[in-house]
Amino acid sequence: MAKDKFIIQDCMWLITESVGVPVYDFDFRRFFNCLTPYDAPSKLAGVARIGAFQDYAELYAESAELGIDLVHTPDDHLRCTSLPIWYPLIKDFTPRSRWYSEIPTFSEIESEFELPLFIKGSRQTSKHSAAASVVRSRKDFEIAASIFKTDPILHWQDFVCRELADLRPVSGGVEDKIPASFEFRTFWWRGELVGSGRYWFEANDYTWTEVEKSAALEVAKKAVTALNCVFLVVDLAQTITGDWIIIECNDGMESGYAGASPFAIWQNIIELESKN
Ligand SMILES: Nc1ncnc2c1ncn2[C@@H]1O[C@H](COP(=O)(O)OP(=O)(O)O)[C@@H](O)[C@H]1O
Ligand SMILES: [Mg+2]
Repeated sequence: MAKDKFIIQDCMWLITESVGVPVYDFDFRRFFNCLTPYDAPSKLAGVARIGAFQDYAELYAESAELGIDLVHTPDDHLRCTSLPIWYPLIKDFTPRSRWYSEIPTFSEIESEFELPLFIKGSRQTSKHSAAASVVRSRKDFEIAASIFKTDPILHWQDFVCRELADLRPVSGGVEDKIPASFEFRTFWWRGELVGSGRYWFEANDYTWTEVEKSAALEVAKKAVTALNCVFLVVDLAQTITGDWIIIECNDGMESGYAGASPFAIWQNIIELESKN
């Protein structure tokens, strides 16, 4: 599928490519006024919605040559996607974590953590597989470590070990996957909330109250301020004691919309960008 590029509502550049994932793809041309002028005005912000980036630095340079300034520098992109970079900036609001360039032994892990643990790569899990992530025993650790060694999504990433937080469960979810919890995805543009929705869109429906939402957003704002990226996604979960914690941060360009409304998100971004 070829990349498309256009200016939406006269205020920003989009580079898009359909990836075939319904919670990621969004047909901008159906909902917004999109033009590709020969003589584009300069200084417009640019966003790429082409799925997970293979090489963001290269895309950033190529886009600049086309006159499209993507909103994140390669450093910004790393700061919102790589746990070893974002974690130190928000460590008080997210489960305690360590990372390793080689898969550690169980005794190395034991010197830093008590069970249970959560294992992932520095950027992501293997499609939310429970066996690769949720570790409650030494045996579980050995299984997760051996999956990590060969899994195509995991093996090239740094190995991340986190304390397993006790999250408020929700019903539904998918067998063999990490259990669904009371978790929400929030989208931020230039420091403003532009959308939010439930993270586990595959689980049974759940919603937050206004009180829960505002408590969660207070925590999300810590990441928004600390990471200082133009288009940030912050995922938050409630623990069984009612506290809100940050699960992870991501680049808004790469993130699926989960239960948030893409139309509302882009309408809010366009409104902010038209004033910018
Ligand atoms: N430290 C943790 N403690 C408890 N649950 C966690 C922890 N980290 C992640 N999870 C659960 O696992 C899910 C997937 O982990 P996440 O870090 O978001 O990986 P991915 O980047 O692949 O989405 C989260 O949505 C959350 O429900
Ligand atoms: Mg996630």
